[in-house]
Amino acid sequence: MFAALKSIGAYVPKKVLTNKDFEKMVDTSDEWIKKRTGIEKRHIAADNESTSDLAAKACEAAIVRSGLDKSQIDALICATISPDYLCMPSTACLVADKIGIKNIPSFDISAACSGFVYALAIAKSFIESKMFKNVLIVGAEKLSSIVDYTDRTTCVLFGDGAGAAVISSTDKKEEAIIDVKISSDGTYQDFLITPGCGSKNPCSKEVLENRLNYIKMKGNETFKLAVKTLTNDVLEIMKENNLSSEDIDYFIPHQANYRIIEAVRSKMNFPKEKTVLTVAKYGNTSAASIPMAMNDWYESGKLKKGDLMLLDTFGGGLTWGSALVHFAGENL
Ligand code: UT7
Repeated sequence: MFAALKSIGAYVPKKVLTNKDFEKMVDTSDEWIKKRTGIEKRHIAADNESTSDLAAKACEAAIVRSGLDKSQIDALICATISPDYLCMPSTACLVADKIGIKNIPSFDISAACSGFVYALAIAKSFIESKMFKNVLIVGAEKLSSIVDYTDRTTCVLFGDGAGAAVISSTDKKEEAIIDVKISSDGTYQDFLITPGCGSKNPCSKEVLENRLNYIKMKGNETFKLAVKTLTNDVLEIMKENNLSSEDIDYFIPHQANYRIIEAVRSKMNFPKEKTVLTVAKYGNTSAASIPMAMNDWYESGKLKKGDLMLLDTFGGGLTWGSALVHFAGENL
């Protein structure tokens, strides 16, 4: 029994914030943002749209494309760092309710930008252990709710969105998710952090006045570690599976910064045209970034059944991961 990625779906909120818009909000420029990150614009959820709304739309698209009926979904995993509610209920329970599924396990995982790859690892294990047949995974973020729009070092980077996939059992090896590797190192916990409004610094007037409820990032340190870790990670997963760059059809990296992607791509000696890039139009959407990029490639008609994708990701925790995944969906 193998686990296979049977379908992909995404949802991108309508409102767009361009780099020019940020020039009016903080001391920055379109030129700086493009040069240092590759980002040109990002989508922002409406006030009345929460993470579960974005996730539910992505999930519905993924279910339709999987050809399954909702009743066949055995479990739902939502990866997010911007849940609808801080503690409970989980965003996954809200998504299940919104798409009309109940009486299945639904839960959130918190692995920041690595959340989708972590969810993929869990879904794969559920299926290979024969516990479940069809697992719906979704990476969804309304990062605009935890971004400090007075901090130029972070606010220009992030956007909102959601991407979902149905992971199903198969007996066809050529459809299988070959390998998923996930890891973490809490030594670097302060590289990416929202310091306030958790149990360590419960929400208070002082916490809010000091803007501790928002994302803080040691950008440059994170950048350097990301390049090093991601490069080692992708080279290792290919080596362990006896694969080389020529065996991979598409490289779908976490979309945080064009320069990070470019550094890893060139160290892998991987062709530019087979590297999926959406950072320019979506910015960094954390757990949603890889499935949104995969969905873009799918909707553009480039991702075909049987293609082998290499995923890699890096984020707060610090967490990271990589995966070798066949696309087992139909081109509808
Ligand atoms: O998704 C999870 C993982 N996240 C990442 O992997 C993100 C990793 N980090 C990065 O992508 C980059 O480090 C950033 C894009 C965040 C920053 O780029 P950088 O080339 O590392 O810049 P820097 O932090 O070293 O800052 C360089 C200068 C500083 O000014 P001084 O001290 O040289 O005068 C910053 O204050 O750029 C300044 N700066 C800005 N200037 C204009 C920082 N943000 C901005 C801005 N506009 N938005």
